[in-house]
Amino acid sequence: MRRPMMAGNWKMNKTIEEAVVLAEAIHAAVADYDHVDRVVCPAAICLPAVRAALADSPVAVGAQNMHWAESGAYTGEISPSMLAGLARYVIIGHSERRQYFAETDETVNQKLHSALAHNLTPILCVGESLAQNEAGETDAFVSGQVRAALAGLTGEQAQGVVVAYEPIWAIGTGRAATAQQAQQICGDVVRRALRDGYGEGVAETMRILYGGSTNEKNIAEIMQQPDIDGALIGGASLKAESYAAMVRATDELYRSS
Ligand code: 13P
Repeated sequence: MRRPMMAGNWKMNKTIEEAVVLAEAIHAAVADYDHVDRVVCPAAICLPAVRAALADSPVAVGAQNMHWAESGAYTGEISPSMLAGLARYVIIGHSERRQYFAETDETVNQKLHSALAHNLTPILCVGESLAQNEAGETDAFVSGQVRAALAGLTGEQAQGVVVAYEPIWAIGTGRAATAQQAQQICGDVVRRALRDGYGEGVAETMRILYGGSTNEKNIAEIMQQPDIDGALIGGASLKAESYAAMVRATDELYRSS
C-alpha cells in the first residue's frame, strides 16, 4: 500500500517568526499521526528556521521551488545544493510558477532531474486551466505535462517523484474538484500516463496527490479514492488546526485499512 502524504504549501505567506510559530504548532498537533507523511513547505527564507524548529519532529520540510543549476549567474535563484540539509522535498512546476514565472515543461523537466540528483524528492505539479477543462482538453493536457516533466527519467528515478494533480480552477477558489473528478484524473489520466511510461509495477508504487481547495470537510472523501494518495494543501495548511484535522482524518483512514 502507498503511504499517504499531507503536504502543506505555505506559498508566499508567513515571516520567519510566524513560520516558526506555525511549524511548532503543527508539530505539536500532528506528531502522533504516524500513518501519514507530514510535510510543510515554507518560503525559502524561512527554511533554516523551520528546519531547526522541526529538527526532532516527524514533520518533514520541503522547498517551494529551486533552480536546476548547481550555482552560477542566476540572480535571485536558489540551487539544489543550497537546499541540502534544509529540505527533503521540493515542489516543482506549481501552476503559479508556470503562470507567473514562465516555467515551462522543459524547465520543469530540468528541475526534476536536478532535484533527484541532489536527493530531493520532487513534488511535481500538473493541472489544467478552467478554459482547458471546459474545452475538454484536460486528459490530453495533463498526461502531456506528466510525460514532458518525466522525460528522460528511468523507472527507478520516477519512483522517487510524487505527482500532484492540481486543477488551476480549484486552487484558492473554494471550488475543489469533486472526489470523483479528482479520482478520475489521478487514476485514468495521471496513473495511466505513469503506467504507459514505466509499466504497472512502477506506476503502482508512485504517489499521486490532489490539490485545490482541500480542507477538513472534503479531505476524507478525497482520501478514500483509490488513486489519490494525499493532498497538496494551500490555504488550509496555514492554520495548524485545519492542517492537523486533515492529517488526523487521513491517519484514521489508513490506520483502519
Ligand atoms: P489551496 O488549497 O489554497 O486551493 O491551494 C492549493 C495549492 O495550490 C497547493 O499547492
